[in-house]
Amino acid sequence: MKRLDGKSALITGSARGIGLGFAEAYVREGATVAIADINLDAATKAANQIGAAAYAVQLDVTSQDSIDTAIETVVAKAGKLDIAINNAALFDAAETVDITRASYDKLYAVNVAGTLFTMQAAARQMIKQGHGGKIINMASQAGRRGEPLVLVYCSTKAAVISMTQSAGLNLIRHGINVNAIAPGVVDGDHWEHVDAMFAKLEGKKPGQKKAEVAASVPAGRFAVPADLTGMAVFLASADSDYIVSQTYNVDGGQWMS
Ligand SMILES: NC(=O)c1ccc[n+]([C@@H]2O[C@H](COP(=O)([O-])OP(=O)(O)OC[C@H]3O[C@@H](n4cnc5c(N)ncnc54)[C@H](O)[C@@H]3O)[C@@H](O)[C@H]2O)c1
Repeated sequence: MKRLDGKSALITGSARGIGLGFAEAYVREGATVAIADINLDAATKAANQIGAAAYAVQLDVTSQDSIDTAIETVVAKAGKLDIAINNAALFDAAETVDITRASYDKLYAVNVAGTLFTMQAAARQMIKQGHGGKIINMASQAGRRGEPLVLVYCSTKAAVISMTQSAGLNLIRHGINVNAIAPGVVDGDHWEHVDAMFAKLEGKKPGQKKAEVAASVPAGRFAVPADLTGMAVFLASADSDYIVSQTYNVDGGQWMS
């Protein structure tokens, strides 16, 4: 018996990176997974690569209609929704005096409102079904403390940790566990983008920021998505039934709380 046999999951932003790693792991554990991403082409490719237990769903977490339609699509396809991971997020970096309203609005729309209203839609569906469920929000070590050039992103991830606490306390009476994962630094497209931004902001050579960051991780390296899948499977499984409102650091020792 696999740990997620017969479960139906939706993972936002899972056409690539960490979310794609979670989708692959959930399918290995017996779940059916909606690869729900704003980039439908990439989501379709990812689903085809994973196989019959994965399917692509167009989702823009900044649109309520899109969220509602994605949940309806999952229910039409898999008959129910048992697990939702709020993984889609955007990153930006700037000197505090250079932060723009456009950057603030964009990051808060995806990372905060997107997480809140996808979590809400998933919870409504799980309550309707009456069998509880599992919601996992993607926080970050960036939500544990500020960084000089990363005010907006850090604050969105602090909000994710806080929303996980309140929603978890509110939804556990329906048998819905809400918890979060706080990764440290995870290699992939996202970090290529971050490295390029820091190269510009701090005058570093391409790859230099990544090398410095890797050297600062107690475990001595960046994570890969597979380093996080154990926690994502655990929080989606019955083993986490008594765990409520927690944020788990999976970061090679970067933060302790
Ligand atoms: N990579 C890291 O080092 C790291 C560290 C800590 C936390 N995290 C968090 O983990 C999660 C995944 O990170 P990643 O590195 O895999 O990110 P990524 O940038 O590689 O992937 C994000 C995915 O989200 C999708 N997306 C963007 N906007 C969307 C929207 N409006 N609606 C739906 N989908 C949308 C993108 O198309 C993309 O497929 C994020 O929440 C991120 O903040 C990442």
